[in-house]
Amino acid sequence: MRTVYVNGEYVPEDQAKISVFDRGFLFADGVYEVTSVLDGKLIDFAGHVARLKRSLAELEMDAPCDEAELLAIHKRLVAENGIEEGLVYLQVTRGAADRDFAYPEAATPTLVLFTQSKPGLADAPAAKTGIKVISIPDRRWGRRDIKTVQLLYPSMGKMMAKAAGAADAWMVEDGAVTEGTSNNAYIVKGNTIITRHLGEEILHGITRAAVLRMASEAQMKVEERAFTIEEAQQADEAFVTSASTFVMPVVDIDGAQIGTGAPGPVAQRLREIYLDESRKKAV
Ligand code: PDD
Repeated sequence: MRTVYVNGEYVPEDQAKISVFDRGFLFADGVYEVTSVLDGKLIDFAGHVARLKRSLAELEMDAPCDEAELLAIHKRLVAENGIEEGLVYLQVTRGAADRDFAYPEAATPTLVLFTQSKPGLADAPAAKTGIKVISIPDRRWGRRDIKTVQLLYPSMGKMMAKAAGAADAWMVEDGAVTEGTSNNAYIVKGNTIITRHLGEEILHGITRAAVLRMASEAQMKVEERAFTIEEAQQADEAFVTSASTFVMPVVDIDGAQIGTGAPGPVAQRLREIYLDESRKKAV
């Protein structure tokens, strides 16, 4: 039985309660963050808190508490639940109020955090074989830069991938790849890493920012621009990044083998560098 955090209290998971009037439940009026844990420590915590603040500000939502308190809650849950490798999930909603489309004048934000233990996260077998993806149309709303909990379309996308024998889906809008259902998408051509530019069309991945910085430091060239599925299918390598998969090689897109069909050297090297550097800076 896990200990979870709900609005100031640490309780066993079967005793945690949220109001039926919570706007997260009624309107998906909430934002979230997923922070990975390695060696019992938080990876890129500062980045996740910075993005959380931005998501809250974009939705004119009050912050439930300050950064020091958020860190303390994360750490206590990791310790109490004995998480060595896994995740901390955090969700803030606008709070409970009588159902009305307009934001309530004075609602108290709801804050929920829980952990997920994932032994072997850093040593995932999929990272050694690479994953297959399919392409699907991007039918999400337009403000994907805000990390909201309205994840039904990404969920449908994962199911479409599963039905097609793939691990994930890359979403396509106006002919170009936006991102994966829960990760940022990249291709590699020669010594150049290509990934979609930031904007409202994609989530500004915390792993993306770190990986691009590390790639530049390792003298790799980075191009932030849109690319098509056809360009990706002809690339030397492809991969995705996220807090839960780090750097994950992609070896097949819509049935077309990428490069040799095995994880490429750039993706493998970036995964190693990312895990190495992130462990050193973990808190
Ligand atoms: N998803 N794009 C989308 C649509 C995402 O949902 C995510 C993360 C990312 C990568 O962001 P980051 O590197 O900050 O994790 C990109 C998380 C892991 C999830 O929903 O579980």
